[in-house]
Amino acid sequence: MKRIGISTGGGDAPGLNAVIRAVTLASIRRGWEVVGLLRGYGAFFDPSQIRILDRPAVRGTTHLGGTILGTRSGANPFERRVEQDDGSVVVEDLTEEAIAGFHRLGLDALVAVGGDGSMRLALKLHQHGIPVVGVPKTIDNDLAGTNVTFGFHTAVDVATAAIERLHSTADAHDRIFVVELMGRYAGWIALFAGVAATAQVILIPEIPYDMDEVCDHLMARERRGRRWAVVVAAEGARPVGGDFTWSKRIGGQTEALGGVAERVATEIHERTGKETRTVTLGHLQRGGQPIPYDRLIALRFGAAAVRQIEEGEFGVMVSLDPPTVRAVPLELAVSRMKSVPLEADVVATARDLGICLGE
Ligand code: F6P
Repeated sequence: MKRIGISTGGGDAPGLNAVIRAVTLASIRRGWEVVGLLRGYGAFFDPSQIRILDRPAVRGTTHLGGTILGTRSGANPFERRVEQDDGSVVVEDLTEEAIAGFHRLGLDALVAVGGDGSMRLALKLHQHGIPVVGVPKTIDNDLAGTNVTFGFHTAVDVATAAIERLHSTADAHDRIFVVELMGRYAGWIALFAGVAATAQVILIPEIPYDMDEVCDHLMARERRGRRWAVVVAAEGARPVGGDFTWSKRIGGQTEALGGVAERVATEIHERTGKETRTVTLGHLQRGGQPIPYDRLIALRFGAAAVRQIEEGEFGVMVSLDPPTVRAVPLELAVSRMKSVPLEADVVATARDLGICLGE
């Protein structure tokens, strides 16, 4: 009999509930008990923040977006920032408290579902002797050590559909639309959705853009009688030699990537005189049902995590290595950010299709 804890951390991604269901059912099948930690790691500090996951708790949840456990992004939950009388801030390390919380809950192992931040925390717990298995999640697909994270393909699906819908209205008004997509410092969502939906320009963080090239491309298209266009900009896109674009957030983390669409649209208008409009897809890329592909990877990841626990192999993250799911050291997952490699065939494909990458 084992008691397994499971947490979902960082920004939500479609497929989280499928992981939770697979972990729960695979554990129950082995005669184990599963405890859901609510809102990230809250339960380590407040033992009431748990939910026992039995069959009814996960029934009919595979296709649901969000997470039945809740999640938190932003601040490191293993740190407390305490403001001093003189206005300075002292950061208190809560790792020992978190470890005590794990033991207080009577857990034998932890399944930590999350992105790079969550995998860093998982590694820290592992280094402090907690038996932990990571499950890679993020719509950004920027986590190393796995071919893909669940949630990514759903985000691409949503973004592709949105870009396609803009073609007709852009055409009707002879306008240039600039669509801003998520992805943090990686251009996976923008590149995949942009190519799939036939954007005319795709700007990704991995290829800093030159606005002369972008405008030349749009004007050459105009001369061919195509007076409209869709420009896809990853939120982390930036000009050659320039900085990222940031926006204010209301609550939570106060500043985040955002606003590059306005920046690009303004410049295109100033240089070409074309009427421009912007669309920022934002959290629509994260909400709602996972597509079948993401559900399946999520279920496979959850079941594989339980098999890892059964084998007593910890400090690892389950990972998609087509056609199979295997485990890689957590150290590998957090060793670097997985950017779009410039030699990727999808980059070459975009160029061969005549899509401008701002270079
Ligand atoms: O990491 C997922 C992600 O959606 C990024 O693409 C985006 O930059 C960020 O999270 C948004 O974070 P928040 O949910 O705090 O607004």
